Amino acid sequence: MPIGIIGAGAIGQALAGRFVAAGEQVVISNSRGPRSLRGLASSMGPGLRPATVGESADEEIVVLAVPWRRLREAVAAADVPDWQERIVIDTTNPLGPPDFEAAALGGRTSSELVSDLVQGARLVKAFNTLTPDVLGADPRTPAGRRVIFLSGNHAGANERIARLAGRVGWAAVDLGPLASGGRLQQFPGGPLPTLNLLMEP
Ligand SMILES: NC(=O)c1ccc[n+]([C@@H]2O[C@H](COP(=O)([O-])OP(=O)(O)OC[C@H]3O[C@@H](n4cnc5c(N)ncnc54)[C@H](OP(=O)(O)O)[C@@H]3O)[C@@H](O)[C@H]2O)c1
Repeated sequence: MPIGIIGAGAIGQALAGRFVAAGEQVVISNSRGPRSLRGLASSMGPGLRPATVGESADEEIVVLAVPWRRLREAVAAADVPDWQERIVIDTTNPLGPPDFEAAALGGRTSSELVSDLVQGARLVKAFNTLTPDVLGADPRTPAGRRVIFLSGNHAGANERIARLAGRVGWAAVDLGPLASGGRLQQFPGGPLPTLNLLMEP
């Protein structure tokens, strides 16, 4: 089952590269359309298919990898009538271009707000704590597997994404629900962003 990725910048490409290397199929999109992704497709090979935002959103697992202030527009472009049945992976952090000021979250975690945008989806916050170069590197190192954190309100979806991460080579640590686990992952503010840990095999 292909993985849809909306956003083909630093994080979208880092994840796409790891998924493709692990034998997954990726359907990736950006705001400028599939033709602008032809170079990426030729460098990644047949595991990656450039697509429209709507096509990426058509997959059962959909990764959101767009800047915070472009999220609403990207979700609108996805034009999904009902997000139910989908797992949405939220990689976003609530700051970004143009000013990199932290967004006001009203006391909630950023992924709880993202969850409101994709109502009905089982949202898993993941892959937001590492820089793109670290995320895009082989997670299996001689010293152990690189740790990624995830959280979400649906245990089954968390497990599913942890299994996917495991197939790629990461060691996934499930932090529980968005209100508590998401707060640990939150950037800025949480203690986990930028922590590059290895778990011994
Ligand atoms: N960079 C980091 O260190 C880092 C680390 C962890 C998490 N994150 C989070 O990951 C997310 C992505 O960051 P990034 O560094 O990958 O950003 P980026 O390099 O600027 O890439 C953003 C991507 O989003 C696409 N995009 C923008 N608006 C869109 C729309 N309306 N519909 C579809 N695609 C759209 C852009 O496409 P176009 O170029 O065609 O506009 C581009 O491919 C952000 O929320 C960020 O906070 C970043």
